Order: sequence, then structure tokens, then C-alpha cells
Amino acid sequence: MQSPVRAPGVDVVLDQIHHRYAGATAVESVSLAIPAGELVALLGPSGCGKTTLLRVVAGLLRQTGGTVRIGTEIVDALPTNERGAGIVFQNYALFPHMTVEANVAYGLRARGVDAAAARATALEMLSMVRMADYGKRYPRELSGGQQQRVALARTLAVRPRVLLLDEPFAALDKNLRLDMQIEIKRIQRELGITTLLVTHDQDEAMSMADRIAVMHAGRVEQFDTPEAIYDRPATLFVATFIGTANLLAGRLAAGDQGGFSVACEGGGALALERAAPCSRSGAVVVAARPEHLALAAPSEYTLPATVEMVLPLGPSLVYELLLGNGRTVKVTQPRNAELHRYAAGDRVGLSLRPGSPAGVFAG
Ligand SMILES: Nc1ncnc2c1ncn2[C@@H]1O[C@H](COP(=O)(O)OP(=O)(O)OP(=O)(O)O)[C@@H](O)[C@H]1O
Ligand SMILES: [Mg+2]
Repeated sequence: MQSPVRAPGVDVVLDQIHHRYAGATAVESVSLAIPAGELVALLGPSGCGKTTLLRVVAGLLRQTGGTVRIGTEIVDALPTNERGAGIVFQNYALFPHMTVEANVAYGLRARGVDAAAARATALEMLSMVRMADYGKRYPRELSGGQQQRVALARTLAVRPRVLLLDEPFAALDKNLRLDMQIEIKRIQRELGITTLLVTHDQDEAMSMADRIAVMHAGRVEQFDTPEAIYDRPATLFVATFIGTANLLAGRLAAGDQGGFSVACEGGGALALERAAPCSRSGAVVVAARPEHLALAAPSEYTLPATVEMVLPLGPSLVYELLLGNGRTVKVTQPRNAELHRYAAGDRVGLSLRPGSPAGVFAG
């Protein structure tokens, strides 16, 4: 029997994918090169085209433009079952009248594998998803998370070249979701199977994915590692969709001692070492993470603010500050005895921590 483990991953390349439903464009000019064996998350708000793109890769939907390549093959003309793509949806549709074992063996039997071999593979897959003891049960006798594991085993049993997951954890509660996330990541690594995971949960994407494609209104705004997306967002949408970002509006100019300076609305300035991705002078919006900002006594080179609230949050202190223009800003500092602790009502100066990134976008 063929080993279920280590079907070497294949790369998946989407070239200028476009999809238009009657009346509306759902996916526009999406080009993505998904390296073999990686887990890539399609992350974005509801309605941005994630499921549409996944269905195009699966062959469940024929795109109106562009091509899909899986491995060396352009698969646009191939039906789903000839693409080698295995799909798990949010609502794990197991066959209710079949045992767990029969559910997992189903795809193999349908492909003409004999009963004994199909059963052996089914048991192997069930043990991989840690459900080996549940083979004789029926789906109704399982919890949601267990059913989802069986659905995953059933999909993996036919050895897909590419695993496509559409919000597979959405129906699970928080703890079960975390277990399943770890499980899927483990199996995906073990098998080296190229995986596309659709999610609108940024934490899920950040923790599971090797790379994230952030989608917005049918387009991919950034495709990069979770760290790069967090530290160097390419657009204002990405900066605000991922993590927390303080937005500071102002005018960008070259600083006196190299670098840049943003004269902020409401008075004061923020000094920046770099001003990517937009380095043009003029109206800009700076997106800075709470942990990338620092507090000090007010000075000429800082942005004046007043402490409104101090929240001790585990190992951190979160300051909520009021700026001259009436906007609030959040700053996170380590709860460290060496750092001066400010109190509500204190006047402070805000600056960007040395070496910290901040995104600068055309305002
Ligand atoms: N069969 C369809 N016919 C017409 N329009 C559709 C169809 N399916 C989806 N759409 C539209 O296409 C756009 C993208 O839908 P899609 O399901 O891909 O979004 P999504 O990112 O998966 O959203 P969610 O996170 O809510 O699942 C939406 O505006 C949606 O209304
Ligand atoms: Mg969807």
C-alpha cells in the first residue's frame, strides 16, 4: 500500500484571476505564487472574495479570467476530482448514515480501492487526526470538533496534492478551535501538503500561516509573511485590518537631521527614521502600533498628549492618551520598574521608539 505520508507538496500559481458573478466582480487581478508545502492564509473581511478564490482553485467555479496552475499543470479545464485538491468546508458534511470509518474510506472506495486497503488507510488517517477509537461511531455521536477531524481525515485519505480549507474552525468554540488549529498545522507540516486556508480571523492567520494574502474588495493588497505584514503593512487597509494601529494624520517633510518628520494635526511632530511605503512630502497618515510608541517628558521633538487612562494588562501597561486634535492613541509599555510610570492627567511627549517601524500612507 502507498504510504499516506509525504506526498511531496506542489506549488500553486494563480495568474491574474478574475471572477465576475452576474452583476458584480468578486475577485480582481489576483496573482499569487504559493510555494510547495506552505500554508497560505487568505485573510480578509466578509465579502472580499476569499471563498470565490478558493472555489476557483478547487474547480468548483470557473473563473471569468486568468489561469490556475497546480504543480506543472494548468488545471483550468479540469474538474475538481482531477485537480488533486481536497476541500474542507466550515460545515463538515459527513454522511450521517455511515460510520466514521466508512466516511473516511468513502473517497477511496469511490476510486476503486478494495475494501481492505480502503479500511487500512481510513484507520491510518483517523489515527493521524487522533480519532482512531471512534471508527465505529456515527457522526451524530461525535462533537463538532470530532466531526471536523473526521472531515479532515476523509479529505486527506485520497491524498490531495493541495488542501483547501474554508473557515474550517468557524463552528467550533474557542478552545476546540485552538486544538484544531494546532492539529491541522501539525498534519500539514508532517505531510508537507500545500494548503490554502480561508479565514477572516487575523489571529488564526498570524499563528498558522507561513504567508498571508490580505484581501480587500476582491484584490490581494499584500502577500507576505505574518511578521512582514504586521511590521511593514503595504497599505492603510492592511495596517488597520491586522493588529491595532494608531492613525496619526499630518504633513510629511524631510527632518533636520536626516529621516523624516510628520507635523501632526493639533500640534507637535513625530520623527520617523523612514517613511515607507509612501515617502512623498504632503498629507499623510502614519500607522503606528501601540508597542512601537514611547512616552517621555514633553519636548520640542515629541507629540504632546495627556494621559487619560492607564490599564495594567498582564506584563504590559496600556496608556490611553488624548492628542491636541481630540483623537486618542494607545501606547503599550512593558511593566518594568525602570520605566517611569505616568498617571492620568500627566502631560507627556509621544515618539516612535528607535528602530520601530511605522507605515506612512498618502493622506
Ligand atoms: N453565487 C453568487 N452570485 C452572485 N454573487 C455572489 C455569489 N457568491 C458570492 N457572491 C458575491 O461575491 C462577493 C465575494 O463573495 P465571497 O463568498 O467570495 O466572500 P468571502 O470573502 O468568502 O466572504 P465571507 O467571509 O463572508 O465568507 C460578495 O460580494 C458576494 O456577495
Ligand atoms: Mg467565505
